[in-house]
Amino acid sequence: MSARRELFLEEMGLTPLWRLRAAQAPAHSGQAQPGDAPDAAPAPRPAPPDGGRAGRIARMGWGELKAEVAACTACGLRKTCTQTVFGVGDEQADWLLVGEAPGAEEDARGEPFVGQAGRLLDGMLEGIGLARANKVYIANVLKCRPPGNRNPERAEVETCAPLLLRQVELIRPRLILAMGRFACQTLLDTDASIASLRGRVHRYQGVPLIVTYHPAYLLRNLPDKAKAWEDLCFARRTLAALPARD
Ligand code: URA
Repeated sequence: MSARRELFLEEMGLTPLWRLRAAQAPAHSGQAQPGDAPDAAPAPRPAPPDGGRAGRIARMGWGELKAEVAACTACGLRKTCTQTVFGVGDEQADWLLVGEAPGAEEDARGEPFVGQAGRLLDGMLEGIGLARANKVYIANVLKCRPPGNRNPERAEVETCAPLLLRQVELIRPRLILAMGRFACQTLLDTDASIASLRGRVHRYQGVPLIVTYHPAYLLRNLPDKAKAWEDLCFARRTLAALPARD
């Protein structure tokens, strides 16, 4: 770990928490364990019928998808945000991290998780030996900032979801980390609480999916950092137990 990162983690009160311990005992009991995860090959999503927007998006490559997001006015959010925030990272990533929506700093810079929550996320990633550009892709459910950082509305999520789903298909990640309520609702189609969804391997289109708290929530609920760290370690073990990508 770099000296700069070490200092940062200390300031955030995260050391020695965000350090990977060797041969860590399973963090969860009574639930599916990493070794239980079968092959990660994503099941192809049945192509939506021709003609509709979702059908068009489901056939796009990276270039078209980026252009679609940049030009999107499908909901009202584009009127109030500065720019769209597509996603960032390795387009053939093993890990796909999904958050909620851009905040003020992301809106200004056009990149997800670059504010305070993003700095926490970077520290957490570094704690398990990852970095956002290396085998990691970071995206949000919404590509535009909701005004005043309000929660996404259902119609906005439904309108934006095909874009995220296409990102998943193009990346074909080996594991998805769904961070927070809106990522879980969108990818797992459930209203269940994060607490009840943690600690087991879910599936999205055949890809193992692990649920954890949103980094912004962790900034407000410091005791739950330990649980998020368990989730990350669980995710790492889950991925390590998967067969190599074909
Ligand atoms: N919160 C999110 O969910 N995404 C971001 O990009 C920033 C904050």
